[in-house]
Amino acid sequence: MPQSLKSQTALVTGAASGIGAGVARALGAAGAAVVINYVTNPAAAEAVAAEIRAGGAEATALQADVSSELEVREMFAKAIAHFGAIDILVNNAGLQQDAPLVDMTLAQWNKVIGVNLTGMFLCAREAAREMIRRGVRADVSRAAGKIVCISSVHEVIPWAGHANYAASKGGVKLLMQSLAQELAPHRIRVNSVAPGAIQTPINRAAWETPEALASLLRLIPYGRIGQPEDIGRVVAWLASDDADYIHGQTIFVDGGMTLYPEFARGG
Ligand code: BGC
Repeated sequence: MPQSLKSQTALVTGAASGIGAGVARALGAAGAAVVINYVTNPAAAEAVAAEIRAGGAEATALQADVSSELEVREMFAKAIAHFGAIDILVNNAGLQQDAPLVDMTLAQWNKVIGVNLTGMFLCAREAAREMIRRGVRADVSRAAGKIVCISSVHEVIPWAGHANYAASKGGVKLLMQSLAQELAPHRIRVNSVAPGAIQTPINRAAWETPEALASLLRLIPYGRIGQPEDIGRVVAWLASDDADYIHGQTIFVDGGMTLYPEFARGG
């Protein structure tokens, strides 16, 4: 992979596993120094950091719960002290706490909104403050900074039994677009990548048995489940100057899940 992100620092939230780890590896392979944010599993975060270092890029793991204002502030302060700048924020941390509406607790609602939506606000705010303060460094990138939100196909596909999750991702859509409008004059590019079904721990039940996988594949015209690298490669490109004129967009990386595949069989 070309070293398109050389001399840049990226912070990836929720990077100890799943899509976040795949994104962190791809950014490291593109030459960025990477901050691996994690909340509960330091060993897994350290393993991702070690892999990136073995590939020749810098990496360090930092703990913070993205839904905590204080912890987010401390994480950014440490990251900036360590690497001197934040050029790229990948707002990835996210979780599901599924329940039918009539059984959903307020705690389940608040937890999902807190991490998936408030966490993106808190991290974007800290990143934007630093990017505005520093401005464009023309030797590094045409933009003062890049913010990529990892959304979901569920920013447009309603999802029964997952109202908290779908609401959080619908929120991410307009959070991203509003930030894009607001931060453009500062030359901060803001976009989303919206994955479909990617094989990670968050959706294990949807792929771990042959029956579950067959049922999932009915929703994916391209006929395979996605892998974290599928998302990592797109994020690395979107954060690079090759994508300098892409701003305020959601790129769906979903094997066609948003094509209403049931209509291929009727309608
Ligand atoms: C969810 C997964 C789901 C996928 C496609 C993602 O946002 O986290 O659980 O498999 O969307 O429905």
